Amino acid sequence: MKTNTALYIPVERAYRSRLNEVDWENLEMGVYTTDHMLVCDFANGEWSEPKIMPYGPMGFSPTTLAFHYGQTIFEGMKAFRTEDDQIHIFRPERHHQRWTRSAERMCMPVIAKEIFCEGLRRLVEVDRKWVPGLAGSALYLRPFQIATDTKLRVRVSDNYRFAVVCSPAGAYFQAPVRLKVEREYARAVKGGTGAAKCGGNYGGALYPTQQAKEEGFDQVLWTDGATHRYVEEAGMMNVFFVQSGKLVTPPLTGSILDGITRDSLLTLALAGGMVVEERPVSVDELKAGLGSGEISEAFGSGTAAVVSQIGSISIYGIEYTLPTTGKGSVAMRLKQQLDDIRYGRAVDPYGWNRYI
Ligand code: COI
Repeated sequence: MKTNTALYIPVERAYRSRLNEVDWENLEMGVYTTDHMLVCDFANGEWSEPKIMPYGPMGFSPTTLAFHYGQTIFEGMKAFRTEDDQIHIFRPERHHQRWTRSAERMCMPVIAKEIFCEGLRRLVEVDRKWVPGLAGSALYLRPFQIATDTKLRVRVSDNYRFAVVCSPAGAYFQAPVRLKVEREYARAVKGGTGAAKCGGNYGGALYPTQQAKEEGFDQVLWTDGATHRYVEEAGMMNVFFVQSGKLVTPPLTGSILDGITRDSLLTLALAGGMVVEERPVSVDELKAGLGSGEISEAFGSGTAAVVSQIGSISIYGIEYTLPTTGKGSVAMRLKQQLDDIRYGRAVDPYGWNRYI
């Protein structure tokens, strides 16, 4: 893609819309996909013209590198319909910043911010009828990039596909989640790919998560891979604790994903005058705090999960239950503030909503 030409994105319209197949009251993320997708390929050292086309299967050779060595990255983003029926994408530039870091960590060419943001904007515009209007729902946007060379040698690919698909989604978790502190397996280690949004991080988490599910938990509370003494993330969410009225979350040390929802909540908490601490939280401290009641709330944050209350945490076989917190809780207050901005009920002082 030449950078000195205006960005034109051709649209091939779907012959028939699948909108009427959607059960809008039961929107499970990823079950329905919208009518169109965006595709842009990288070959001979440059990006091709991005195209919007009908959603459908992509044909790839069995030797496509992404199938074998995990050179894949993705983002999780959302488009919202405000109460006055406008549509915006939440913080696309911030997502592109993280995308850039993920791509660099995985030795992939970075698609320009202009193509990324304009491609998403145009795609959401084309599929605007798919942006749900129900409370708590949004259009989930999934940009992804895969290595498409077809030689089986382990090497950095020369060719890539960047694509975006969209899925109308409701709440990811309906009830407070039950977590188990993980002390055997690791999601990420220092120097690894934990801060990148690459497929392998999620594939490697499946086995321990599956084990936790078999024991009756919803997700794993990950600890650092070296010592298992410090808390890192909760399943596929960043984790927060309310400790003696302060908002505490583990710092971004390289093995934790730099969540855009995490950043938004920290911004809102600080603006609201809360004391915020980004610092290591040890399992011992967690145990003591849950036992004494000093830790009064725990919650996870993520694009898909938004703000999800943590109902209990099992630490080496002892389950600590957190009280079910209502509207007055820190978690629900922050969620409400974030939702008010995203659904257009409050001013957006940060310029997070990028209207299409
Ligand atoms: C997200 O919150 O968007 C995620 O990427 C988590 C998950 C659904 C993979």
